[in-house]
Amino acid sequence: MSGQTDARSNTPRHVAIIMDGNGRWAEARGLGRIEGHKAGAEAARLVVESAKEAGVEYVTLFSFSSENWNRPADEVKGLMDLLRLYLKKEMAELHKKGAKLRVIGERERLASDIVQLILQAEDLTKDNTDINVIIALSYGGRQDITFAVRDIARRVKEGSLSPDAINEETLTQCLMTVGVPDPDLLIRSSGEARISNFLLWQMAYSEMYFTDTLWPDFAKKDFQAALDFYAGRDRRYGGLSKRSQKA
Ligand code: IPE
Ligand code: IPE
Ligand code: MG
Repeated sequence: MSGQTDARSNTPRHVAIIMDGNGRWAEARGLGRIEGHKAGAEAARLVVESAKEAGVEYVTLFSFSSENWNRPADEVKGLMDLLRLYLKKEMAELHKKGAKLRVIGERERLASDIVQLILQAEDLTKDNTDINVIIALSYGGRQDITFAVRDIARRVKEGSLSPDAINEETLTQCLMTVGVPDPDLLIRSSGEARISNFLLWQMAYSEMYFTDTLWPDFAKKDFQAALDFYAGRDRRYGGLSKRSQKA
């Protein structure tokens, strides 16, 4: 219909999600925190389905931050065990859905069997094209930028890169997200309104949606609410809104 915006053009290409509130969800039910993480893994599966149905091309799920290593050892162990289970069981499901998996973060800090499972899952799904699922695991935005800077410094030292040739693209190409478009929309659940060292460089112009819903309760309707919020935003990138340009 003329004069109406095409709904599809208002769909974010890349949605990044800080899946927060598993612990509080469990505590409110008198359960252990790990039970909350289990329920959170289920919510993650549903959100991938919703994203695929909506035509979102990339979903990045913040599953474990660089700082989460500071949690009590039993919680870290519980999370790693859950991850093993998820990588073993869910990957076949993701593959059936046509999802291509990629894991970003410091692999050096993960147990070697988990690294093996990640490599297998990435290999299994590498030719899939229906949706890209990026799992941020042992990931920190500052660490990502720090490693990129090291990489650039090495190339300068070797003489293959001139300092004057370094631009934003050089850095973008050295980040763990290389090849992935910047997130259009960030979703954070559980009522917190902070970034917690997620994709710092990449989220320079992301729209941000915060909801009080705790992650295990995050359902398809919540994802749709975030998409509706996004569709109503006017992304100006420092310029003028389309409305002002016409005036
Ligand atoms: C998010 O839930 C999952 C991880 C950070 C691994 P939390 O475990 O942070 O849950 P809350 O914030 O304590 O409720
Ligand atoms: C952010 O949640 C990390 C993940 C969801 C994996 P946290 O619960 O760790 O963040 P803070 O500590 O509240 O900032
Ligand atoms: Mg939290």
